[in-house]
Amino acid sequence: MKLKLKIWRQKNAQDKGKMVDYDLDNVSPDMSFLEMMDVLNQDLMEKGEEPVAFDHDCREGICGMCSMYINGQAHGPDRAITVCQLHMRSFNDGDSIYIEPWRAKAFPVIKDLVVDRSAFDRIQHAGGFISVNTSGNTQDANAIPIEKANADAAFDAATCIGCGACVASCKNSSAMLFVSAKVSQFALLPQGQVEATDRVLNMVKQMDEEGFGNCTNTGACEVECPKGISLENIARMNREYLAASLKG
Ligand code: SF4
Ligand code: FES
Repeated sequence: MKLKLKIWRQKNAQDKGKMVDYDLDNVSPDMSFLEMMDVLNQDLMEKGEEPVAFDHDCREGICGMCSMYINGQAHGPDRAITVCQLHMRSFNDGDSIYIEPWRAKAFPVIKDLVVDRSAFDRIQHAGGFISVNTSGNTQDANAIPIEKANADAAFDAATCIGCGACVASCKNSSAMLFVSAKVSQFALLPQGQVEATDRVLNMVKQMDEEGFGNCTNTGACEVECPKGISLENIARMNREYLAASLKG
């Protein structure tokens, strides 16, 4: 396959940045999208040019690092996968492919396609955990009965990989789907009840302080989420928040 790549290049956070065109030949349909980017970078380095900076780690849909906007869609044209799981067979010979970083005030561009998603870490630090006594008296988790439907829903919420596609695809740059997944995975379990009030209040406060926008129920986040995190989690977080506010 021959491709015309149009890639966002930005030297650093201060640089204005611009789209740059690259022609790439000999792309196999069996390559993953990131392998195609590796081939481009190899070509650029052989020519003495700066390779394109992009985030990646696991390359198997687990770490949530490979954040790219491809042809106007977070993680590219296919549903329920990350960029590292996207293959070049999803494109045609001769295609032009536009590749950009996540665009959101709370995710500033560091370089080229790499954005700073530490805002998500700070939200997690604000309440995305449970405190457990690990002094030798810890209760075996299997000894706590949990209704199957709740266990399944908690597990589904816990599959959020923190990739940020929900923010990038939201017209308001809202982080509600991410935060609601992190709140829900504990709200549905007995282990999460002890700190439930502080958790939701603190995480939502941190989300607002980071500069994410408000949710207007458009639903683009759910469509673009590679892990299928449901909007039901946002409804659950809103109920948790209301109950916590009334208690507080
Ligand atoms: S909710 Fe989905 S899109 Fe948002 S961070 Fe989690 S996995 Fe990514
Ligand atoms: S590189 Fe880990 S999810 Fe894509």
